[in-house]
Amino acid sequence: MNKLVDTFGRKHTYLRISVTDRCNLRCSYCMPPEGLNWKEKSEILTYEEIIRIARVFVDLGITKIRLTGGEPLVRKDLHVLIEHLSQLKGIKTIAMTTNAVLLSQQAAALKAAGLTALNISLDTLQKTRFTEITKRDDYDNVIRGIEVALESGFAPVKLNVVVIKGFNDDELIDIVNWAKDKPINVRFIEYMPFKDNHWQPEGVFPYAEMRSQIEQQFTLVPLEAEHGAVAKDFAIQRHVGTVSFVTSMTESFCHTCNRLRLTADGSVKSCLFYLPEVNLRDVLRRGITDEDLALMIQSAVLMKPEAHPPMEELATVANRSMIEIGG
Ligand code: GTP
Ligand code: 5AD
Ligand code: SF4
Repeated sequence: MNKLVDTFGRKHTYLRISVTDRCNLRCSYCMPPEGLNWKEKSEILTYEEIIRIARVFVDLGITKIRLTGGEPLVRKDLHVLIEHLSQLKGIKTIAMTTNAVLLSQQAAALKAAGLTALNISLDTLQKTRFTEITKRDDYDNVIRGIEVALESGFAPVKLNVVVIKGFNDDELIDIVNWAKDKPINVRFIEYMPFKDNHWQPEGVFPYAEMRSQIEQQFTLVPLEAEHGAVAKDFAIQRHVGTVSFVTSMTESFCHTCNRLRLTADGSVKSCLFYLPEVNLRDVLRRGITDEDLALMIQSAVLMKPEAHPPMEELATVANRSMIEIGG
């Protein structure tokens, strides 16, 4: 029985675990331009601590875990963590969201360790633009990472494209065409506000506009959505690749939310945009029992708000920056 039901009746089955707050890119929509003070190693959960907390979550009803960052692949020996998580009784999916800079060297080992699904962030197919947004010269590494992921049997790979008006909104058609013969699900994401990411309402390229631009060239066929999914999915006539839209800003999906988050420093975050958290790391290090850990996790679920505030208000909400949350 699922023991992670909130006060609005939503059942939680999906846990996003951030394994590090560090990243090897510097995407401007994700982190402050001056950088962040990375947390000390001692503040970050060890793999043993993550596995113990994950086991308690899985016993309460979690069936899907997604590893996030910062950039998860900058953490050493991630495949070892995946091997342990994939053995938890009751777990069905172990996924990861990555920028793919380090993926080509690791994809096969991650697959062998039990990783079942990969989402890759790439906002442009133009090398100079890539460097402009990420402040790093890693475009070729990312493209290679995507190729190796497909060769290693991850299919479909989801490609996360944050669309920013005036920056990459002229590339939607090119990106859909690029994925024509590839088992890739391109996901165009509305730009969301986070601490110090210089978000402006004018930067949001709304779902309706993205869709009408794409429908001028392609015929979209709606696909049935998985419960709790953040994306609206479409097949495209005569394409292997599919296209989706993540519409957090113009059509939020909070009413079906099934997600919880564990931050790299060990706090349960019940909603992407809700600041109050329940810290598990310190009580864990002081010797808390699994039963009490479970009660603390459930207390975080009971605090979860019904929905996030509207777009303009969100920009003023005190929150961690995106890089510290992991999406
Ligand atoms: P699937 O498990 O494949 O459905 O992936 P996902 O969409 O949950 O994860 P991913 O890390 O690929 O995130 C894609 C986009 O969705 C990013 O922009 C995330 O910030 C956003 N996202 C993920 N979870 C939530 C959420 O709970 N609320 C909102 N508003 N956005 C979210
Ligand atoms: N708005 C929307 N999506 C974002 N991501 C990072 N910052 C933002 C933002 N401000 C996405 C990344 C990554 C995922 C975890 O979150 O592109 O794919
Ligand atoms: Fe790193 Fe991803 Fe944030 Fe870019 S969006 S800085 S790749 S964590």
